[in-house]
Amino acid sequence: MPVEPNTPKKRLLVTSALPYANGDIHLGHLLEVVQTDIFVRFNRLLGNEVVYICADDTHGTPIELNALSQNITPEELIGRVHKNHSRDYAGFNISFDIFYTTNSDENRHYAELIYQRLTEKGLVVEREIEQYYCEHDKRFLPDRFIVGICPKCKSPDQYGDVCEVCGATYETTDIIEPRCFICGNPPVMRSSRHLYVQLAKCEDFLREFIDCPGVIQDDIKKFVKSWIDEGLKEWCISRDGPYFGFKIPGTDNKYFYVWLDAPIGYLSSTDRWCKDNARSVDEFWGENSNTEIVHFIGKDIVYFHALFWPVMLKNANFAVPASVKVHGFLNVQGEKMSKSRGTFILASEYLKKVDHPQASEFLRFYFGSKLSPTTGDIDLNKDELVSRVNTTLANNIGNLHHRTMVFCQRYFDSMIPDASWDKEIESKVYAAAQEIATHYERCDFKLVVEKIHALGSVGNKYYQDAKPWELVKTDPDLAAQVMVTCVNLIKSLAVFLKPVMPHLSAEVEKLLRREFVWEDYRFSLSNEKMGEVEKLVKPLDTEILDPLFAGVVINDTKSGSETGLIDIDSFSAVDLRIGKVLSAKKVEKSDKLLCLQVQVGKQTRQIVAGIALSYEPQELTDQQVVVVSNLKPAKLFGIQSQGMLLATKDPAGKLVLIKPQREVNSGEKVQ
Ligand code: MSP
Ligand code: ZN
Repeated sequence: MPVEPNTPKKRLLVTSALPYANGDIHLGHLLEVVQTDIFVRFNRLLGNEVVYICADDTHGTPIELNALSQNITPEELIGRVHKNHSRDYAGFNISFDIFYTTNSDENRHYAELIYQRLTEKGLVVEREIEQYYCEHDKRFLPDRFIVGICPKCKSPDQYGDVCEVCGATYETTDIIEPRCFICGNPPVMRSSRHLYVQLAKCEDFLREFIDCPGVIQDDIKKFVKSWIDEGLKEWCISRDGPYFGFKIPGTDNKYFYVWLDAPIGYLSSTDRWCKDNARSVDEFWGENSNTEIVHFIGKDIVYFHALFWPVMLKNANFAVPASVKVHGFLNVQGEKMSKSRGTFILASEYLKKVDHPQASEFLRFYFGSKLSPTTGDIDLNKDELVSRVNTTLANNIGNLHHRTMVFCQRYFDSMIPDASWDKEIESKVYAAAQEIATHYERCDFKLVVEKIHALGSVGNKYYQDAKPWELVKTDPDLAAQVMVTCVNLIKSLAVFLKPVMPHLSAEVEKLLRREFVWEDYRFSLSNEKMGEVEKLVKPLDTEILDPLFAGVVINDTKSGSETGLIDIDSFSAVDLRIGKVLSAKKVEKSDKLLCLQVQVGKQTRQIVAGIALSYEPQELTDQQVVVVSNLKPAKLFGIQSQGMLLATKDPAGKLVLIKPQREVNSGEKVQ
């Protein structure tokens, strides 16, 4: 167990994904670094050695384009962004050991080294492909440099790889009337040679890697396995110049694709930190190092971290990650973060608009109270933020702290009394410590917070039931016991909360005049002078959050296409009719399909339905059903189907057909 004092100390290298240097830090980024930082601080509290690495991801086309549109060089852009990112993370007390950049000499060195080793292993091949080229600008045009009409929804002025109107993704060559983003001229096709990593050759290694216990959460593992099962495609790691990135040695005008050198940023930033701290990078990334490498990432970049990255490391003789921890996305007020809906909130905006001295720790606490090892999305909700902060911090822990400390100040002359503490409370805390440590290890911070809250409630109830304000007159020794117990409990709570709320914990450290390590959760204080008592938590009023959420568009003022709501006309477009099943039989060679003859009014329709696992054909005869009668006919297993039946599912997952409550005429409309 991690909580025993004699546990051998571990060494960890922990990373958060490297944010792109073409925009500001938003609350989604923050969710990730807060999660990582809590894990890092917990491990440090235990006495493990942790190096927490992050950097800006600075290369690639979007950054080049962004600089172009601001009329500055990419170097200038990433320099500005680096300052802003560092400031924003500091505002939330993120304890990086280094926040570096991928546009560094170290990163160039490792990108070249890894590429060279992959080449030596015979994993890199050259292929000739056709690509758009602008004769006016004399350059190849990657996705983002092509604009044109979306092949799907026909919206004009869309990028070469994705349509921002309908969300479709496509090959650049499918876009209609392609034009060069820079000069607007139509491009020509030209062939170009590119470098590919043959991932398929590493299939055995990858299967073994993702099956190592703890490498990746089970639900994500399923996806990764299915990607491997589908066959690993060759991965293109080169781009034509000009490109903002590193030139590939031995080529004419090719650059490393940004996703090659981005994860290498973890390694090269460690190298920089090692140089600055007289350490050897081998201790961390050497093939036989005993450092645990832990990556925290969002679910959108699993492919890169669970497949490409381990392949690069393994084949270049570096250590592979012990764990890739994947989190879900942050939504705001139930909606995806989006600029047009005002839910795209920047970290700097939060700090500026929330006028409360503990604003940043409240958000850390809120994220902590929502984070678990699952990959489900997490919602930032204004009312919930207020209620969580006030319920657990202000009214529970803050209250226990305040009443206890003020009492000691007043009746015991600012001393922690000389008395023995309540053994029952002490053992409750020790049992909770084991659980909390396990939850922290598993990144189940939600349960950590729940447990801390429960202990706070135990403390408040104990205080309330003991009535120290009466005892102090009738039995001062017992009053002293109550106080000593509560002070020690508050110390334990502050230790448990320290990874989530380092500032709040520091207030208690100041008061009790020591710096906490994990073992300080144990009851130990009596007969000591206390520091000055201050309020630990100032409650959070809803109005304080108004400026932050003022721009958020409320659900019902939005247009249909955004909310997924439809008007009555769209509903009426579906012609639902009552039908009666005349006969049903199994479809040959299919376990799921039944072929039914259904009478709808005067017509008899043949309908193929996927209900064979839920119904025997004979039970259906004479049953009334609901038919979507204006569905385009389709062929299933070669059989024509003229409609669809409405069904739902029972708790066991079996399909259950919908039918009218009382028998009605066949052909009757459902409305
Ligand atoms: N630059 C790449 C990562 C390279 S790692 C070698 C990248 N950058 S990013 O800025 O788009 O995202 C950085 C991290 O923030 C990713 O892990 C991403 O999943 C996470 N998030 C971005 N938006 C998010 C939310 N709305 N919610 C939670 N995390 C989100 O990808
Ligand atoms: Zn052009």
